[in-house]
Amino acid sequence: MNSAPIGIFDSGVGGLSVWKEVRAMFPHENIVYFADSARCPYGPKPAEQITQYAKQITNFLLQQGCKLIIVACNTATAAAIDTLRAGYNIPFVGMEPAVKQAALNTKTRKIGILATKGTFGGRLFKATSQKYAQGIESIEQVGEGLVELAEKGLYASDEARQLLHKYIDPMMAADVDQIVLGCTHYPFFKPLIEEIVGANVSVIDPAPAVAHRVLDILSQNQQLESQTKLGDDIFYTSGESVVLQSFLQSITGNNNCDCRVAVLEK
Ligand code: DGL
Repeated sequence: MNSAPIGIFDSGVGGLSVWKEVRAMFPHENIVYFADSARCPYGPKPAEQITQYAKQITNFLLQQGCKLIIVACNTATAAAIDTLRAGYNIPFVGMEPAVKQAALNTKTRKIGILATKGTFGGRLFKATSQKYAQGIESIEQVGEGLVELAEKGLYASDEARQLLHKYIDPMMAADVDQIVLGCTHYPFFKPLIEEIVGANVSVIDPAPAVAHRVLDILSQNQQLESQTKLGDDIFYTSGESVVLQSFLQSITGNNNCDCRVAVLEK
């Protein structure tokens, strides 16, 4: 059971920002990643449809023997995490924008949040904002177009820079000192964002907190991998494996990752 893999999924390559953290924290664990790139983006889609996708992917990951599943997608977490937790007997770790951390850190009492439409519309986001961001001005911005650019590997492009300026300049003008990355595709833009905002603004990616949460659960359940050899990675996509391979090469330098095309049962 301990050598059973950790499952990670996202609407596409975005969850690889979480995979990187998890891989770094758990070098001996086997990991199965699923990118639903053929149906990306999830952000503008209705919650029922995303929940349906999340269940199909969960079934697939369970067939691969996963012992825990990370929903490495804020949008899918917002739409489906309650249904997944109620319907399957396996731990799920979800993602949500790090509003609490931003609210605790801010000195100007102003924070910027960049996320998808689906994430802003979810119950989770509203509950967290109400709980932790009372008396703090939050500037919420849908990062339209960014997911599509990340999927094409264009996270350092001029087009990305222009879009980011459009979304972030108003936040800077409003004097935010924290910017929350509320979509797992956005950390790939972090170098550009940091260039735009400068050193006095913190750009918060919740992926490290997610990796710690995974550690807590696997330790509690005594399911940590005890092998000494390095863990394996298998990357599945509902899209094209060459696209996933080229993205992985751009973030890891490895041009020989185990990328496979997955066909999901309806
Ligand atoms: N990476 C995703 C998220 O964290 C999904 C983005 C999308 O597919 O629109 O929200």
